[in-house]
Amino acid sequence: MSKSDFVHVYVPGATASSPTLLLLHGTGGNENDLVPFGQKVFAGASLLSPRGKVSEQGMPRFFRRIAEGVFDVEDLITRTHELADFVDEFRANHEQSRIIAVGYSNGANIAASMLLLRPTTLAGAVLFRAMVPLVPEKLPDLREIRVFIASGQRDPLIDPQAASDLCQLLERCGALVSHRWIAGGHQLIQEDLSATRQWLANEFR
Ligand code: MLT
Repeated sequence: MSKSDFVHVYVPGATASSPTLLLLHGTGGNENDLVPFGQKVFAGASLLSPRGKVSEQGMPRFFRRIAEGVFDVEDLITRTHELADFVDEFRANHEQSRIIAVGYSNGANIAASMLLLRPTTLAGAVLFRAMVPLVPEKLPDLREIRVFIASGQRDPLIDPQAASDLCQLLERCGALVSHRWIAGGHQLIQEDLSATRQWLANEFR
């Protein structure tokens, strides 16, 4: 396995022009977690679901953290580029231009980091329970990029301000951000699924 390869699940789309959902699991999850969700929110999309390479006491993650919500930024930067290389390679091999990240928690945070550090890799992103992963020295141009952020009103792990800060940061980069407060906590609920399905249909069908 090369450095930019990941253990992953790939489900081909219904047609060659179907977009790809890049599914990014949360801490302790794996490449299988979000596949059923991806099939429900965008029938016919191709699905690419890698497993995070970092292990935190046996729990897969996409980058290291020092404590809950405190990130090892150096590792985050390295891992973000590694994941973006994997996605760029996939895009080249599959002639796929529309790749939309769908990330939950730790997976959402690395997706946000990809938007900020590798602005040409993704066409859009759905970020569940995300926060600001890092602030780059030079802000990227995200003018073509559409982002849906779904935050939990009663999320004990993500401060509401941290979710709003992410929204503002991406907007400052020019991204078209839609931010929705879900009537729930950190876990995904039915409202996340229906809101995502609707947003993807509006923006990417
Ligand atoms: C992170 O580490 O990315 C966030 O704290 C969310 C999580 O618990 O995975």
